[in-house]
Formats: sequence, structure tokens, C-alpha cells
Amino acid sequence: MEILKRPRRLRYNRTLREAVRETRISASSLIYPVFIKEGRGIKAEICSMPGQYHWSPDRLPELYDRLLETGVNKIIMFGIPSTKDEEGSGAYSGDGVIQQALRLTKQRYREAVYCVTDLCMCEYTSHGHCGILRGGDVDNDKTLESLARIALSQAAAGADMIAPSDMMDGRVRAIRLALDARDFQHIPIMAYSAKYASAFYGPFRSAADSAPATGDRKSYQMDYHNKKEARKEALADIEEGADIVMVKPALSYLDVIQTVSRLVDVPVAAYSVSGEYAMIKAAAAAGLIDEAAIVYETAVSVFRAGADILISYFAPELSSNR
Ligand code: PBG
Repeated sequence: MEILKRPRRLRYNRTLREAVRETRISASSLIYPVFIKEGRGIKAEICSMPGQYHWSPDRLPELYDRLLETGVNKIIMFGIPSTKDEEGSGAYSGDGVIQQALRLTKQRYREAVYCVTDLCMCEYTSHGHCGILRGGDVDNDKTLESLARIALSQAAAGADMIAPSDMMDGRVRAIRLALDARDFQHIPIMAYSAKYASAFYGPFRSAADSAPATGDRKSYQMDYHNKKEARKEALADIEEGADIVMVKPALSYLDVIQTVSRLVDVPVAAYSVSGEYAMIKAAAAAGLIDEAAIVYETAVSVFRAGADILISYFAPELSSNR
């Protein structure tokens, strides 16, 4: 009997290989995180994240013009206020750093720059926790009232999408109800649903000056030994009204991204966090790896795992290289 001899792998040449790629990175799927610091005339490199900067609102146009040139038109904004208090009131102040930045961005760039706002209190509280403290613990329900208030203030200043990263129970519903009651029904919520208590946030906490003064975030962020919990959190957030669910960090959590993306019918975002960025930067600076190649390979792995959106400090590089 004659056996049809077929090579197990088709002999693709480069052109065909590109034609049949299963995963592609498109600039439209990337979101770039921006640290916005209260003040004027500031563009200051962040020590823990070489190549990333603190920007005061007035200097943001420099950043936007460069970003738009690379094809990236979505940002997620983190605020660094000049003063902090117990309640984190700077987060909902009409004249807060994020509100100032949003107004300026929307006046000058309108739809051209899509503004996602990170909604958390840890950058604004004197104790550095993500909510209102009672005793030594975060008071979940009291915090929900503040979160709703912050969301409204961000929406009123021009936010296009709200991304709660605090991990309080019931926050998506509280924010959704508050937005809907004030005619912000059109503003979507991207929930940090599976946010693990991770050492990969280290460089961010020094960048945002948001490390908790005492204790840690383990009571409200997830234990990385658990995966089923991510399914539960994602489903609960969708039930409460989340339009997009997020897994964070990305690189050590590809299995979680895959699990969640197979489970849910809404888009899944993955956040490649500060520690992932800093590791690549440090290894590249030491001449140990090819930075551009590693940046691209790791980003592809996140999309291959099932993410629809990638939040990355390398967004401009990813977008302009391919
Ligand atoms: C706020 C927040 C954090 C990050 C995003 N939003 C810090 C944290 O939870 O400690 C981390 C992002 C990064 O590491 O790049 N809660």
C-alpha cells in the first residue's frame, strides 16, 4: 500500500508563515499606563522604572503627540497628588490631579486619546491602603461610597472608561449604580477582577508612592496559589456590570488569562505590570537579553493565552516595531 508522504510541518516560507499566524498584536489593543503628578512643568524619570516618567498635566501633550505617532491612542491614568489624607479625598476632588489631566486632555485631544482612569485610593491615602481604614483594616462598605464618588468625579471630568483596581467586594455594582444614576450609562467599567497580591507591583509602588505604611494588601488582593478564585471573581464582576475583566499581573499568570478568557463572554484585559517591565529593562541594560525581541515575545504570549487587550509600559515599542 502506498503511503502518502506528507511532512508533519508544512514547509512555510516567511511570507506564508506571516499569513497564517494565529496571534497578532494590533496597536488598537494596547493601553499605555501614565503616571500623572500634581504640579507644573514636570517630566521626571521614575527610578524604579527607567524609561517611564512622572508627568504633570500641563506637559502631557508632549507624551500624547509621541504616543499617537506610534499608533497608541489609549492610556490608563494614575494620579500622584501633592498631599494625601486619611480619606484619600484628593481622588474625588474636582480639582484633583486626575481631574485636571482629564479636562486638559479632553479639551485638546477630544476623542483622539481614549482615557481610562485607574480607580483606587492607595495613591491618595496617607496610610497607603486602597480604602478607608477602621481600626487597622479596610472598611469595605465605607470604601464603596468613596469609590462611587471618585468614579463620578472622574466621569464628570471626561474619563472614557473607569477601571476599579481596589478589589473591594461589590465595588463594580456600586460604581455602575452611581454612574447610571448620573447619566453616565455610556461609560464602561473595566474591572481589575483577578488582581493577585504580587511582588511584581514593587516598582509601581515606589513610582506611585503607594506602598502601604503598615501591613499588606493580602486581605483584599488574591492569593496566587489560586486559579478557581479568578473564575469566581471574573463572573461576579460581570454579574455586577463589568464590561471588561482584567487579569493582573500578566506574565506569571498566563494560565489564569487562558482560563478566564475561555470562561467569559466579555473581553479580557491583561496588565503587564511594573515588575515585568523592570525585569526586562534591567536584563537588557546589563546586555543579557535582546530587549525588543523579548518585549515582543512576552506580549505575544499574553495575547496567545487569550487576552483581547494588553496594558503595557512597552505599548509604544510594541506598536511601532510591528
Ligand atoms: C492600585 C494599582 C497598583 C497597580 C495598578 N493599580 C498597585 C497595587 O495594587 O499595589 C500596579 C501596576 C504595576 O505594578 O504596574 N491599587
